[in-house]
Amino acid sequence: DKGNHRHFMQKEIFEQPVVVAQTLQSYIRSVEQQVALPQMDFALSVIERVTIIACGTASYVGLIGKYWIEQLARVPVEVDVASEFRYRDPVLTPNMLGVVVSQSGETADTLAALRHMKAGGVTTAGIINVPTSSMAREVDLLLPTHAGPEIGVASTKAFTCQLAVMAALAVNLARAKGRLDASEEAEIVRHLIEAPAAINAALAHDAEIEAMAHTIAQARDVLYLGRGPDYALALEGALKLKEISYIHAEGYAAGEMKHGPIALIDEAVPIIVIAPSGPLFEKTVSNMQEVRARGGKVVLISDTEGLAEAGEGCLATIEMPQVHPLIAPLVYAVPVQLLAYHVAVAKGTDVDQPRNLAKSVTVE
Ligand code: M6R
Repeated sequence: DKGNHRHFMQKEIFEQPVVVAQTLQSYIRSVEQQVALPQMDFALSVIERVTIIACGTASYVGLIGKYWIEQLARVPVEVDVASEFRYRDPVLTPNMLGVVVSQSGETADTLAALRHMKAGGVTTAGIINVPTSSMAREVDLLLPTHAGPEIGVASTKAFTCQLAVMAALAVNLARAKGRLDASEEAEIVRHLIEAPAAINAALAHDAEIEAMAHTIAQARDVLYLGRGPDYALALEGALKLKEISYIHAEGYAAGEMKHGPIALIDEAVPIIVIAPSGPLFEKTVSNMQEVRARGGKVVLISDTEGLAEAGEGCLATIEMPQVHPLIAPLVYAVPVQLLAYHVAVAKGTDVDQPRNLAKSVTVE
């Protein structure tokens, strides 16, 4: 049932404040101000490396997880798409944690990668939305997302709930590794709890994004730029747009533009820049100026501070609430999803059932 919404995708985008809160609730002990994982029969403290395996949108959760886990727990993380990992004879080591991320829990490549890790003696965890799925049954540690059924082929609420669980995993690993004291953890918990309200604030820009979608819908190519976790969101934005609007889109690490892709820029190519204020902001803005100098039309997604500094001269800006860097990906995912959604609606494509795609990809 779509309720008052025109599409399942739209309904699922708007469900995010509730389902992210639901997911966080199951990992946060609010009285103790601690993050907790379900019971496990291995010690996180012995983990020396983490490998995250997934496909598509779920693999971008892995990229963001890499930033979080390396930063908080100082444990090296490798991220791979399942279809590559499986066939390159990866090096599996005893103190490695293999993490799969999957909405359906049935994606054939991810399931095969999971089985490959298990056969190699690797301890596995799974961030999974469908609790009865094959992956949910086979992982050593199930870390459920509580997004509820996701019907739209384009993954939205599963993505932000996966991020919430990934953050919980990163915090637990950091604590187990002796990298986080109680007061630092309490502060992270406070920020995580703020995420649903910030997602709500991001959703309030729906009408504005719908209005600019008509311009983007005319483009043949769209580029998305970001740094750090926002690079993963750039990839996610491009995938979402391709998937449902059939417009060619690419996500790039902002710093990579000058190594090739900048040659594509002209007045006809909109560039979506995802850049919360913070240590990486100045650098991203200078990459943004480079594309603007070549006639590129920039849509800047940033916060109040960032827009005050760099919003001038953009085709459009989308103002996000000022949030802690840890929860920023959960918030900035929203305008990225809404933009793809409204562009697809403007183009009249089948948003919930895009051509050539299946919700669950059970072939390798
Ligand atoms: O069910 P999964 O999370 O394992 O699916 C992985 C990908 O097929 C999926 O995220 C796909 O990229 C989405 N349709 C993107 O919106």
